[in-house]
Amino acid sequence: MENNYSKSDFFVIKAMEDGVNVIGLTRGTDTRFHHAEKLDADEIMIAQFTEHTSAIKVRGKALIQTSHGEITNG
Ligand code: TRP
Repeated sequence: MENNYSKSDFFVIKAMEDGVNVIGLTRGTDTRFHHAEKLDADEIMIAQFTEHTSAIKVRGKALIQTSHGEITNG
């Protein structure tokens, strides 16, 4: 398989307040929002980068864990 995104690392986003938005941005030349997931305090999203998603934007206070490390915003 040329691009095996299903084997890519997972990242974790833990919302630290209500209404945190996790926005998926498309892979390829056309970069646009394709999905917005709203998390409330203490909700967790576990996700991967895929053939459809090359970047994410997190709006609101959250703890983000990746294989590169951990970061909080807000
Ligand atoms: N259908 C999307 C995809 O396969 C689901 C998804 C995966 C997603 N990772 C994401 C949505 C990160 C938002 C943020 O790419």
